[in-house]
Amino acid sequence: MTVVVAILVRWLALAALAGLIGGLALEVFVLPVDETDTVSARRRLRVWSLVCIGGLLLTSAAEVVLRARTMGGGGWAESVRVVPLVLSRTHFGVIWLGRIVALATLVVAVGRSGYRARVVALALAGTVAFSTALSGHAADWGDLTPSVLLDWSHVLAASLWIGGLVALAIVVFRAGVVARHGVVARNGVVARIGARFSRLAAWSLAAVIVTGAYNAWVQLPDVAALWNTPYGRILLAKLILVVALVALGAVNRYALLPRLTHTRARGVLARTVRLARLTFVGPVRGSPSTLIALVVGEAALGAAVLGLTAALGESTPARHAGHVAHVAELDGARESIHATIEQLHEAGGVPRGWRFRLPPGDAQRGGRVFARLQCYRCHRLRGEPYPAPSAAGPELTGIGGHHPASYIAESILDPNAVIVEGPGYTGRDGRSTMPAYREALSVGELLDLVAYLETQGGMHRHRP
Ligand code: HEC
Repeated sequence: MTVVVAILVRWLALAALAGLIGGLALEVFVLPVDETDTVSARRRLRVWSLVCIGGLLLTSAAEVVLRARTMGGGGWAESVRVVPLVLSRTHFGVIWLGRIVALATLVVAVGRSGYRARVVALALAGTVAFSTALSGHAADWGDLTPSVLLDWSHVLAASLWIGGLVALAIVVFRAGVVARHGVVARNGVVARIGARFSRLAAWSLAAVIVTGAYNAWVQLPDVAALWNTPYGRILLAKLILVVALVALGAVNRYALLPRLTHTRARGVLARTVRLARLTFVGPVRGSPSTLIALVVGEAALGAAVLGLTAALGESTPARHAGHVAHVAELDGARESIHATIEQLHEAGGVPRGWRFRLPPGDAQRGGRVFARLQCYRCHRLRGEPYPAPSAAGPELTGIGGHHPASYIAESILDPNAVIVEGPGYTGRDGRSTMPAYREALSVGELLDLVAYLETQGGMHRHRP
């Protein structure tokens, strides 16, 4: 339930961000500067930007409550009460406050007219995008790492591309449609805007593909993870939609626009697309309304891509083997809570929203502990190189997706706390047949072991 809400909020946030960046980029890069035809389009774009900023403020508020909820683990009312703590005491809070300041400044910048104000607004929108990159998977390894910078480029380029499309479809071209019934000369403007946007979109797309490929390489252990893991499957669906989007864009650029601007794009690619279109679609009516219909179609696909992106953000990637160890670090890169003794006593002994959090471990070392203690004698762990179990015990494949770290730790420290039912799992005394490891494990080894088991598994959110 919380996950669904989180995905919806993230989707809205991504859409608002893309709309904002795309709309501002249209004004800065695409709308012909001296064109009087675009006055009404510019006026619409300003309203559009304000709506997007409103959306970002709303989703930011929702995000902080959601964050408080995962941290505090309580109900909604409790979460709202923890919000000040999250804002004042956590890393997320600092990023969040920075974003709110940027959004407030944006309202001022968008309210002013003139080209320079648009450029400033676009730069500010870029910092809002940066705050998004800072709270995504790429930031799992730190704040100013190449991963974060690449993810930032990815967010920027994708926002330019998809947000620009959406803004073009529902803001700028509405003016074009109206003009179609009246002044015929304005069709030229639609074509010209289309051509300029198409160039911008092509560059953005190239950046999206390069940065996206890097992201996929980091987040996926191998190609098979594309269909073996939930994260991979969502990514695959997203890729398919992106390919469809690119195909539509290619028809626009190489088949339709040249007719409207009465030029023919040259080159092998252009000819291939024209040929493919003739074969599969037949001749395209080269009217601005066809162009507009296609752009609307692209915009809808773009919105769906953003939805899948939001779902990816809420699921845990099956990491590249070399990165597995860092997953544990990430769980540990948590914010400290500060409190005085008096505050603690007053709050009932623990800070508000406190829960027992297991410190981070090193998953790679944990794998060696698992092997040394021969846990595989009773537990199957698919995908890992152990011999088949010879004694009774539940399979641990995917355990990270089912249980929080603290539960796994307890299972090892005290097998009898929760006894899983199964054939041979308990002895005649009714107690677990799993040995006690209190003498065999150091605290560090226990943490590493838990980190290792946490990385075994599908879709899970980071839990203490
Ligand atoms: C002699 C067989 C045996 C060995 C060796 C053994 N276990 Fe177990 N383990 C069991 C049995 C049986 C259960 C189920 C009963 C219970 O809950 O204790 C279990 C349960 C668990 C669970 C809880 C599983 C769940 O889904 O709730 C975890 C985690 C676990 N073992 C981890 C380990 C680790 C890590 C090691 C090695 C350090 C290990 N086990 C070694 C037999 C074994």
